[in-house]
Amino acid sequence: MLLNKKILLCVTGGIAVYKAVALVSKLSQAGAEVKVIMTESAQQFVTPLTFQAMSRNDVFVDTFDEKDSRVIAHIDLADWADLVVVAPATANVIGKLANGIADDMVTTTLLATTAEVWIAPAMNVHMYENKAVIRNMTTLHEDGYQFIEPSEGFLACGYIGKGRLEEPEKIVELIAQRFTSSKNLPLSGKKVVITAGPTRERIDPVRYVSNFSSGKMGYAMAEAAAALGAETILISGPVGLDKPVGMTVIDVESAAEMLEAVRTHFDDADIVVKSAAVADYRPKDIHPEKMKKQAGDSVIELERTTDILRTMGGMKTHQILVGFAAETNNAVGYGMGKLESKNLDYVIVNDVTDPAGGFGSDTNVVTLLSKRGTHQPFQAMAKTALAKVLFEAIIQEESEQLNDR
Ligand code: CTP
Repeated sequence: MLLNKKILLCVTGGIAVYKAVALVSKLSQAGAEVKVIMTESAQQFVTPLTFQAMSRNDVFVDTFDEKDSRVIAHIDLADWADLVVVAPATANVIGKLANGIADDMVTTTLLATTAEVWIAPAMNVHMYENKAVIRNMTTLHEDGYQFIEPSEGFLACGYIGKGRLEEPEKIVELIAQRFTSSKNLPLSGKKVVITAGPTRERIDPVRYVSNFSSGKMGYAMAEAAAALGAETILISGPVGLDKPVGMTVIDVESAAEMLEAVRTHFDDADIVVKSAAVADYRPKDIHPEKMKKQAGDSVIELERTTDILRTMGGMKTHQILVGFAAETNNAVGYGMGKLESKNLDYVIVNDVTDPAGGFGSDTNVVTLLSKRGTHQPFQAMAKTALAKVLFEAIIQEESEQLNDR
């Protein structure tokens, strides 16, 4: 699976270091060449010798301990790697990296590499939810670092919660997927932009207008695009889903922020899929302070948000533009109307009254309508499977346009 792939594993000091040993073993078994750097605190848990034996390579622990006089070790390792994985990643290394601090072999190499860096945090649940840690992780997300979210379960500190290093088998599977995606897949070399989830339109500092969109369909579309080889940009409203790896995730809150993010990535996009349930209206005035209740009823005046999809329909040149339409009746008729009026290439319509589809559900039942007038109904299936077949149908119909670019 990973033959000749060069993986640089940065091990930082948490109890989950023992799992990093299993990770090196599994990566080596999958054919990867693995080199390991350890922080000083990681060595409190497991000795470098263990990693040396598992990786059959020297283990690097000190920036100034140059093993080969012909090269500078941290630069050489940084340049060597196809992929850098920090596992386990402590709150400390996350904080240092987010702030550009390089005070040991791990952090110096992390700043020096131009390879993709994946961070697999592992820590106590309260540390993981600490505001400073969240702030640092957000910064790293924005800087293009990818995260392998920790799982939930029993933590070594006795708590039950989120913070457990993802299982080595799962990390290897994600890495294998990442390398398959860069091979000759149908969407290799293509840029796909996907919006997902609801938007939130603020009323005052504690209230907002939103909808029940879970983001599941959009996230499934993004994962399918990445699995088909695309450089994937997922623009997500507030959802309760784990951040997917192997793509850039941009978090937004309001329709205005979503519009801005889509605009930024629109020009060089090949396919744009708008699965987000964007609020059509927002409060005309956002109250700077919390609104106090008054006697009697209250009215909040709403104004229209910009229709992002329609705006992109007006701007599009080569982009294949795909919209969603959730309807309760005459789904195909209304869908065709939106396809034409918004200048789309495809619209994916679903009848939200169907018990097998709609908000929050893990399954969906949709029809794919194209500007050429084709109707392709799909039977009810898991959103993850549906996302893949929808992309395959679009790729098949658009093969000429995609190959020309
Ligand atoms: N959309 C958008 N920007 C908005 C509103 C919707 O980009 N401000 C996009 C959605 O992401 C989705 C499609 O438009 O792809 C939905 O079409 P729309 O006509 O807005 O659906 P509804 O809001 O359900 O419209 P209607 O009330 O007319 O049924």
